[in-house]
Amino acid sequence: MEQPAAVILAAGRGTRMKSDLPKVLHPLCGRPMVAYVIEALRRAGLRRPLLVVSREAGAIRAAVGPTVGYVVQKDPFGTGHAVASALPRLRGRSLVYVVYGDMPCVLPATLRALRGAVRGRVVAALATGVVERTRGFGRIIRDDRRRFLRIVEEREATPEERAIREVNAGVYCFRLPALRRVLRRLRPDNRKGEYYLTDALNLLAGGGGDIATVSVRDPEELIGINTREDLAEAEAVLRGRILARAMRAGVTVADPATTFLDETVRVGRDTVLQPYTILTGGTVVGARCTIGPGARVQDSRIGRRVRIRDSSLEGARVGDGSVVGPYAHLRPGTVVGRDVEIGNYAEMKKVRVGDRTKVHHKSYLGDAWIGADVNIGAGTVTCNYGIDGRKHRTTIEAGAYIGSDSMLVAPVRIGRGAITGAGAVVTKDVPPRSVAVGVPARVIRTLDGRR
Ligand code: UD1
Ligand code: CA
Repeated sequence: MEQPAAVILAAGRGTRMKSDLPKVLHPLCGRPMVAYVIEALRRAGLRRPLLVVSREAGAIRAAVGPTVGYVVQKDPFGTGHAVASALPRLRGRSLVYVVYGDMPCVLPATLRALRGAVRGRVVAALATGVVERTRGFGRIIRDDRRRFLRIVEEREATPEERAIREVNAGVYCFRLPALRRVLRRLRPDNRKGEYYLTDALNLLAGGGGDIATVSVRDPEELIGINTREDLAEAEAVLRGRILARAMRAGVTVADPATTFLDETVRVGRDTVLQPYTILTGGTVVGARCTIGPGARVQDSRIGRRVRIRDSSLEGARVGDGSVVGPYAHLRPGTVVGRDVEIGNYAEMKKVRVGDRTKVHHKSYLGDAWIGADVNIGAGTVTCNYGIDGRKHRTTIEAGAYIGSDSMLVAPVRIGRGAITGAGAVVTKDVPPRSVAVGVPARVIRTLDGRR
């Protein structure tokens, strides 16, 4: 079977969204709406679709990148006009998919079925479905033998036509020569004064061409986005699909209603997601972890057998077997080793934490390198922000014991196996295996008995 070309329409004004952001860039589960359409086409075997964009489409190009080709529709004169703008780029092709960029729930199976339906005398196939909420979509008018007659846009529909619940999805497969012929004949003689692509189908049907309809498998596919309410509905559907996919891959989701995964997140097998868990961006979670209840993890890499609860992580890495929370905040640049414990009200930023180190009870560690087997006492602070307005580094070598309420005034180094007393304000380096106490801290003895 010949591979069709594909055109995605994204040049409309999106007025009903009341937004400064182009409609197709509104995010759904962490990705721009149009990315779902591109992905559905890709999964139906189609690479590099053409995206029809408006003149002010810099933001779309920046977000979508070079995986698609771009066509500029100078003015948004309607869906028919948008497709016509793409025709010069479709020379030599005989079939084309047209998908509206605001239909992110469309599934690859529907696209494949449309392609399959365009055979013999069929000149075009369109996806339709019966819905509760019609969203202002075009209605499908059929004859008494249920054959497709035409699409009537809601604005132009009579009350009887408006009562029809079968709608046009805005997803089509056309034979290109036939489409070219009718696009030339479109006229903007309707309420909106636009060139409707739906009129092209009406002209094809009126001219004796066979039009096939493919009913979508799942009415959810017909959630097109014209308003913010539609956006929220689509988000719920896509989120359900992402969670279902995770569960099929061996992830336990204790409460799908309060678990949110971006499309871009990966979760390993036998990991349990407890309620109120939000995993976003490029987050990757390994196998056999327990995440939540109450976890918010963004752009972070979590190893295997990690437990995270009641905590917030951004741009962090956590090694195998570590425990984070309750109430920890790991900020960008935090790299935690294996079997580490980070708990109650610990905040970290740009810090590397060695294996088996323990950080409990109200600490702030920033711009620091911390070795293995270190114990950070309650209330420890790396005073990284100098009066010179710069950030300074703290180094705590392996096996050190930092007494409660120690203030480590950076730049400063605590040597291997050294101890700081409770309440010490450390302004100078502490040599390995020595004990420093007081304000400012001074070394009172070494652990090897020397003074
Ligand atoms: C359209 C259909 C309607 C269908 C519905 C389903 C027409 C005339 N109507 O209505 O039958 O039920 O979609 O999704 O086609 N666009 C452009 N250039 C333009 C105008 C629009 O690229 O000049 C793009 C928009 O960015 C959008 C898509 O085409 O992605 C559809 O346009 P929209 O205005 O949302 O059409 P609907 O009113 O939803
Ligand atoms: Ca629409």
